[in-house]
Amino acid sequence: MPFPKTLLLLTGLLAAGSPALAQQKALTPAVIEQRITELLGQMTLAEKAGQLIQYSGRELTGPASARKTDLLNSIRQGQVGSMLNVKGVQDTRAIQAEALKARLRIPLLFGLDVIHGYQTVFPVPLAEAASWDMAAIRESAHVAAREAAAAGIHWTFAPMVDVGRDPRWGRVMEGAGEDTYLGAQIARVRVLGFQGEKLGGTDAVMACAKHFAAYGATIAGRDYNAVDLSPQQLWEVYLPPFKAAVDAGAATFMNSFNTLNGVPATASRYLQRDILKGQWQYPGFVVSDWGSIREMVSWGYAHNISEAAQKAIAAGNDMDMENDAYFDALPKLVPEGKVDVKLIDDAVRRILRKKFELGLFDDPYKFSDARREKKVFRDPQHRVAARDVARKSMVLLKNERSVLPLTGQGKIALIGPLAKSKRDLAGGWTVIADTAQIVSAFDGIRQRAGKNAQLLYAKGCEAASDSRAGFAQAVETAKAADVIVLCVGETWDLSGEAKSRADISLPGVQQELFQALKATGKPIVAVLFAGRPLIFNRIADQADAILYAWFPGSEGGRALADVLFGDYNPSGKLPSTFPRLMGQIPISYQQYSTGRPVVDPKNIRYRSAYLDAPNTPRYAFGHGLSYTTFRYSDLKISQPRMTPAETVQVSFTLTNTGSRAGEEVVQLYLHDKVASVVRPLKELKDFQKLSLRPGESRTVSFTISRDKLAFYNHDLQWVAEPGAFRLLLGSASDDIRLEADLELTE
Ligand code: GLC
Repeated sequence: MPFPKTLLLLTGLLAAGSPALAQQKALTPAVIEQRITELLGQMTLAEKAGQLIQYSGRELTGPASARKTDLLNSIRQGQVGSMLNVKGVQDTRAIQAEALKARLRIPLLFGLDVIHGYQTVFPVPLAEAASWDMAAIRESAHVAAREAAAAGIHWTFAPMVDVGRDPRWGRVMEGAGEDTYLGAQIARVRVLGFQGEKLGGTDAVMACAKHFAAYGATIAGRDYNAVDLSPQQLWEVYLPPFKAAVDAGAATFMNSFNTLNGVPATASRYLQRDILKGQWQYPGFVVSDWGSIREMVSWGYAHNISEAAQKAIAAGNDMDMENDAYFDALPKLVPEGKVDVKLIDDAVRRILRKKFELGLFDDPYKFSDARREKKVFRDPQHRVAARDVARKSMVLLKNERSVLPLTGQGKIALIGPLAKSKRDLAGGWTVIADTAQIVSAFDGIRQRAGKNAQLLYAKGCEAASDSRAGFAQAVETAKAADVIVLCVGETWDLSGEAKSRADISLPGVQQELFQALKATGKPIVAVLFAGRPLIFNRIADQADAILYAWFPGSEGGRALADVLFGDYNPSGKLPSTFPRLMGQIPISYQQYSTGRPVVDPKNIRYRSAYLDAPNTPRYAFGHGLSYTTFRYSDLKISQPRMTPAETVQVSFTLTNTGSRAGEEVVQLYLHDKVASVVRPLKELKDFQKLSLRPGESRTVSFTISRDKLAFYNHDLQWVAEPGAFRLLLGSASDDIRLEADLELTE
């Protein structure tokens, strides 16, 4: 629960004014390092340990720690370096004033999970990934940063850049899907969106690349579980988005709850010191995840919290989030000779560096400006941006007999448990408490349907109960309509952290409701709201049209109406594979040939196949339809072979062969036919999202460099081996339109 206002009033905190701002000489990197050195020279060991401590202002995202009682006093004593889950100008200003009463007046950092928007809720990150629109995704992060920074926040615990290939894991909602290349592009633009070009502006916050590393490979899709990975998989699939975040200048990293090959990530020297701070020369700092130091004891990796603290600081974990570990343990471990004070000094330096770069030493209250908070929150452009990325995120999975777009005439029966929901459309990890500002599907469709259409409504059933009591009324409503729009899916609290599901089918009796409505013979459009891939085979087989709307945020209902009525031609493509059956999980488009590939699906004897299901998914990575059609033609390759020092241009003509303007995400895949370690049949190596008018043709080009042909060999060397490659261009990983051979020579 937030700091009691009475306590803040009693301590006269709310009257705290901003101290006169002494102009300091320009804070160049050298000046910052000098000032940190001077400060370190004045700090006691306890004050150093205090800078490594982060506590939560309320128990939003994990079990509370024991030291809640005297937290304000700890802050006054300089025993806390950062707070999370404190938000708003008033509270941040008040608590910062407490920190400035400490001997060295070192300002606090305020962090918060601004995962997909602050006041303006954007689509959940997996939804935004489905837009494949880097500019829109970057703008989403920029708006979130503007609003968070206006509310006193210095630091968001985002972007989550974990590649996720197991939809049982609820946290796939927070990431960018299953593909490394797409994930790396999105990691980069999210960091730049949050941070801008340089830290210190009051419309930007520090980013935090998380969860380092390989959390998405958690065994059985169960949260907080172990991860066992080959070095090749770690380096080839899971690390590149983190490296992209480093290259984009991510100010901080967060490690993760999982073990990696037997070692908790928080205690992994390999991850944090060898790779991140060593090989990648990372200058920022690493924060633990909530309690992940303490949890080494539960893992059986440390006998007690003191040993866990020792292992964490030695491994390169700089800040202790809600562990009650570092503050008590480190000042003892140093004189005991178990921890070198240099490790603590390095951690403190990394944290103080960010406080200087943010400008907090010059003006500790610069982010806590009540006037700016009001002004920024009222900016209408923010909802424009939210609506734009929401409609670009929606994926048209099926559209038979052109049931979509809706004509806007006649009677529309809007049915389903999520048709009027606001809270669910916000998804998980929302900062705001008040979801009344969310535009529901009903609101959006009613506003758009206009005078020529009549909107009928029935709920039909709850999202996750077995009652069919509402079916009859829903069927009657459907019979009176010309078309049915059925809004089903997950509720918001079924995806996100600690939301693993052993069965990702549509909950409750929603598919049964669909079948009851289908029996009326009316055209039926299914709209699915969810934070992850779901299994809904009866709907997939029998609906006339299916639109996957994810959790689309504040403007979700309007964005939905934009797509349903054709005001926006859907352009989303799946960033994750949708399985047919649970038994296919984990599943991704990156399949191997195997020694016994399925050549003829009718003859699978002694082949790598299931007896009771095809190997193919329900919907493939990269799948997404449009209200128009596109032709791929005239593939040209500048030369059929290349040396490692050369590049090759691949180009082709893309034509909009339909009657509507539309956007197409052209995907370039590659297959290394023979290599020293077997290679997937397809790897996404590039993509472009283009908008074409009806009838318009455009030449699309890609450059193939050695790097696109390279992979990690058995000795973990990044190599491009001479030989034959296949280039595949398509509209989806299972919809390849053009192919070409390319040879890499010595
Ligand atoms: C949670 C999450 C992490 C989040 C942190 C702070 O446990 O794992 O993603 O940023 O705690 O809320």
